[in-house]
Amino acid sequence: MMELIQSGKYSLVHYDPERDHFIKTFHPKAVDRLRYALRIRPYPGHNFALIAKRLEALGIATPTIVEADRYRLVTENIHGVPLKQLILTSTDLQEQYLEALIAYYRHDIHCRGLHTGNFLVREEKLFAIDLDAYKAPSLFKYSKREYLDCLKRSLKGQEAFLFIRLLERLGLDENYQALG
Ligand SMILES: Nc1ncnc2c1ncn2[C@@H]1O[C@H](COP(=O)(O)OP(=O)(O)O)[C@@H](O)[C@H]1O
Ligand SMILES: [Mg+2]
Repeated sequence: MMELIQSGKYSLVHYDPERDHFIKTFHPKAVDRLRYALRIRPYPGHNFALIAKRLEALGIATPTIVEADRYRLVTENIHGVPLKQLILTSTDLQEQYLEALIAYYRHDIHCRGLHTGNFLVREEKLFAIDLDAYKAPSLFKYSKREYLDCLKRSLKGQEAFLFIRLLERLGLDENYQALG
């Protein structure tokens, strides 16, 4: 029996216990379907696979893909724990997370959902999930400012120190200007 894990605005995530797979289906609005059909943007399932390849090249682990169709993506269960549950007590995981965020920044990989709920941890190793929401660098680059603003909004409360540390690592002040 398939189990519903999460229902988002334009996607559903199911778990198949027999195969130990996660199945994500995409149900975009008409204007986005048109964008995909016109090849303005990759189909979400294809985008997931494309981003996974890029992240692997940067040394960031991603789920094993079983099937990547236009509107359907099947991955193997990572058998991990959400980073959110571990990050406040592990300096090693804080480090891995910051390294990933810095790599995205330097390589112009954009995503609005880089909060600690979209990373899993297995055997002390960080895995990036929800890759359909990522945007690979293109001619129309997202600004570094937009990337940082999204992260700032994602890292609130007890996680806010991670954003401060990220700016330090990037050598930027609170207005994202390079420090002398
Ligand atoms: N390959 C996977 N292995 C383990 N858990 C997964 C996997 N893919 C998805 N999940 C689980 O399903 C949840 C929703 O998946 P996600 O891709 O983040 O969807 P959404 O876009 O709705 O946030 C994740 O937070 C995670 O708990
Ligand atoms: Mg998610």
